[in-house]
Amino acid sequence: MLKVPELKAKKVKKEPITMLTAYDYFTAKLVQQCRIDTILIGDSLGNVFKGELNTLNVSVDEVIYHTKAVKKGADDTFLIADLPYMSYHLSKEQAKYNSSRFVIEAGAHAVKLEGGSDSRVKAIEAIVDCEIPVVAHLGLTPQSINRLGGFRVQGKHQEQAELLLEQAKSIESAGAFMLILEAVPEKLGQKITSMLDIPVVGIGAGRYTDGQVLVINDILGLSESKAKFSKVFEDVSIPTLKAITDYRDQVSNGNFPQSKNVYYPVDDTEK
Ligand code: KIV
Repeated sequence: MLKVPELKAKKVKKEPITMLTAYDYFTAKLVQQCRIDTILIGDSLGNVFKGELNTLNVSVDEVIYHTKAVKKGADDTFLIADLPYMSYHLSKEQAKYNSSRFVIEAGAHAVKLEGGSDSRVKAIEAIVDCEIPVVAHLGLTPQSINRLGGFRVQGKHQEQAELLLEQAKSIESAGAFMLILEAVPEKLGQKITSMLDIPVVGIGAGRYTDGQVLVINDILGLSESKAKFSKVFEDVSIPTLKAITDYRDQVSNGNFPQSKNVYYPVDDTEK
């Protein structure tokens, strides 16, 4: 398993970091089998698991539930649990307590939080002080959609870009060991990546970050995402639809179950 020092070393060695989300046991098992460096149990589960329009009503207990399942499937992969909206905003104590739950109850190795304001920086310092590695998340932060006015590219204008550069420096000084940078112009992604010593993992931040993260449902064609930065690597909804339709047809026309699918008493000659 790659841990914090190895993940940081990948930046120095210029080896791209691979990260994917996962939310359940079996998917996590497959992700680990493919030797993805690190799994994010994202609050994107609100969208792709619960069918919500945004991530705002995901709870700490829900992320813990999914992290536990992922841990069982990927017990040899570095796991980052996402702190949901309002689980770290109220106080440093709240941030420390909720972060520790992911580590103690669910076996996460690190937590992620969104934003780079002064209070977020204080939350990062407080969590790191509890020996919990923190991943910061800047750019398009989905927990801020009501303020941002929707899922919009960030840092397109000089003022916004300067604020992001400043916030990136602050989260690094606060002790975050990695930054996820979402939906910013490629040039800004490159600038932030070269400015920081910690790895910058991009999602819509261009080609020059230290790694990439995507939502697993998006790469499998199992989501409604239209994001330009994403890519369907294989549309598994097609074979899934076929399997479900075949099942329906075979049950309807009496072709399933067959004799090999049923149980017999010990002395039955039919088996
Ligand atoms: O919740 C999530 O999955 C995320 C990634 C998209 C970075 O924050």
